[in-house]
Order: sequence, then structure tokens, then C-alpha cells
Amino acid sequence: MLKLDFHPAGRHFLQIPGPSPVPDRILRAMSYPTIDHRGPEFGALGLQVLNGIKKIFKTEQPVVIYPASGTGAWEAALVNTLSPGDDVLMYETGHFATLWKKMAEALGLQPEFLGLPGIEGWRRGVQPDLIEARLRQDGAHQIKAVCVVHNETSTGVTSDIAAVRKAIDAAGHPALLLVDTISGLASADYRHDEWGVDVTVSGSQKGLMLPPGISFNAVSKKALEASKTAKLPKAFWGWTEIIEMNATGYWPYTPNTNLLYGLAEALDMILGEGLDNTFARHQRLAHACRQAVRAWGLEIQCADPAVYSPVLTGVMVPEDFDADQIRKTIYEHFDMSLGTGLGKMKGRMFRIGHLGEANDLTLMATLAGCEMGLKLAGVPLAGSGVLAAMEVLGAQKVKPALKAA
Ligand SMILES: Cc1ncc(COP(=O)(O)O)c(C=O)c1O
Repeated sequence: MLKLDFHPAGRHFLQIPGPSPVPDRILRAMSYPTIDHRGPEFGALGLQVLNGIKKIFKTEQPVVIYPASGTGAWEAALVNTLSPGDDVLMYETGHFATLWKKMAEALGLQPEFLGLPGIEGWRRGVQPDLIEARLRQDGAHQIKAVCVVHNETSTGVTSDIAAVRKAIDAAGHPALLLVDTISGLASADYRHDEWGVDVTVSGSQKGLMLPPGISFNAVSKKALEASKTAKLPKAFWGWTEIIEMNATGYWPYTPNTNLLYGLAEALDMILGEGLDNTFARHQRLAHACRQAVRAWGLEIQCADPAVYSPVLTGVMVPEDFDADQIRKTIYEHFDMSLGTGLGKMKGRMFRIGHLGEANDLTLMATLAGCEMGLKLAGVPLAGSGVLAAMEVLGAQKVKPALKAA
């Protein structure tokens, strides 16, 4: 039995940019008894989630659901569309883009890593003009896919995917567009069909508010066509058999039944709030969080306001401080987990997650924990971030959802 006296009184504040806290409604839904995955009730559940999830991706095309973490869905996107030795153009936005590139190498692809030099590349989003220029050089169309991360969770930068699509079209290049929105989906605006994305990869443990354990590939017609000739070895990840069986709400193997209960509940919650309202709530919280960071006199990791992430904010700490020590102080004093700096940003920054079911008061508590922890760690602050965020969040008089009848 897991030792449950690990955390002090009250709820642990899980403010990392995913996994995000799982709402009680979803936890309760997941506690329904597991049913026969070949029985009639399951087929109805399968169809409900397979149809519902399309609304979140904004697609009419199939969305494949895997019982795997996001990394599995990354692999599925590559092995279903590409062949050994294929050239792929990948863009360095941060740690997760780097991991996807490593995976492409391990699978026998030839990734080329495009990006701005050094840490600059990790502070700005994808530069579509660099992609366009590179594709224009590829007159023989050797590059088979362009891979970009929409919301780079290691930095707090959300790239403009519509602009990447335009860049590919402007170059007149037939490469597939593969996009990772593992941490963007259901928190940041995303449009699989409208933006002409061929495979969108996502996961359960971020904006969908579920525990880790299921992940997704939204698949365009062009990607399905490519999968017919793609030669990278695949068995478990192969789309064809899954999509065939999904037509009646089933899978060729045992799916993650209880997480699918949770997904059905999450879809009800998100579509009930309305996707646009969900996105606006994330934007508002992110804005308040950034105002807090500015008031502290600290630097926001994302250097271009046009691509600030609504999901998380990366906070850079003064050079003579170790961000992980500050995180440790906050964890030990206030029972709150913040995201660590990853890869090139190790020790240089911490990440505040404001995604999923986050609301005004969870953000205020989070910022209070940060401010108290920063002071305890001896970081000199220019002013109060908590007060700055209150100015933003308190400016709106009545939340329409709570208006008296
Ligand atoms: C943008 C991004 N891509 C990929 C991954 C890897 O997903 P997972 O850890 O679920 O395998 C993550 C995880 O945080 C992520 O944020």
C-alpha cells in the first residue's frame, strides 16, 4: 500500500505543466467498474469518446487513441508515415523537440534540426521563414516530413502552426506536417483540419485533465495515404487495424477502459465550458501569471510576446541562484510542485503550470507559494507578483457562470 502520510494537510499543489491535477469529477468517473472491452456497453463508450475527441482536435478525420504516454504517440506518428532513411525536417524549440528528434534518429530516419542558435532558439517559437527557405532548397523533395512542437512544455512557447502550414505551401513542398500538441490540446487554440496538419500527436495528462496513460494521433487523409507505403516497422502502433475496429467502437487489443471513462467525463467538462471559453480562461490566467513574474522583476523565458504559452510560464532566476534549489524550498515549505528546468535550461528556470482545471484562486495560491518561496530562498524581488496578479484577476467584476439567477 502506498504510504499516504507523505504530504501534509490539504491538497498537494501540483503546478507542473502536466500531469495536471485531475478533477474530482474525472476521478469519480474513472472509479466505475471495468467492463468487458468486447461487450455492447464498451462499444457505446468507444464511439462516444472517438467522436467527442474529434471536436477537441477540430477534425473530421480519425483520431487514434493509444493506451500509452505521449512518447508512444510520437513514435506512432513517425512509423506510420515514414520509411527507413527518410529525411525529416525537425525544428528545435526546446527539450521535447530535441527528444522527438532523438527518437527519429533511433528509428533510422535522417532528421535535420533547424533552429535559432543556442538558447535563443529555446526562447522563441518556430520561425516559419527558416522552414520555407530550407524546403525551397529541397527541389528533389527528399524531405518527407516537417515536425514541430506546438506548445513547447520545456520553455512556455506556443508556435504558430498555421504559419508553418503557409510556409510549406509557399515553398510548394509536399512534405507531411507532423505536430506535437501534447501539452497544448484543450488549453491552447488548435485546429487540425483548418491548419492542414497531417498528424497531430497529443496526450491525456495536460489540458484534458486525465492521468497519464492515453495518447492520440489525429490523422489526415494525406497521412493515411502515406501510411499505405510507409516502411518503418510497426505492429502495435499501426493505424489501419485500429481505425477499422474503431468504426464500431472497439480496439484490436485491450484498451484503457477506466481512462476512457475519464476521457468521456473530460470531454463533457471541456465541451460544457465551451472550447473558446476554456482557451480564454487559460489566456487570462497566463497573463496574470506573467504580470506576477514581471512584478517580481524576474525574466519570462519566452522572449516573444506573440508566442507566450497559455499553458505554462517559464521563469528565469538570477544567475547566482539555482532554480532547482528554489523549487525544493517551495516544495518543502508549501507542498507545491513546480516544473524543473529541462535540458539547456536546467537550474536556470522553473515552470509554473496554469492548465487544465486551473482557476483564479488556484493561480493566486500558486503565485503566493512562489513568492514566499522566492523570498525564503533569498531571491531579491522588485515587488509583489501576488498583488500584480490580483490586479489582473480582480478587474473583472462578475464571472458570468456564477451570476445569481
Ligand atoms: C511537448 C511534449 N512532447 C512530448 C512529451 C512526452 O510525453 P510523455 O511524457 O507523455 O511520454 C511531453 C511530456 O511532457 C511534452 O510536454
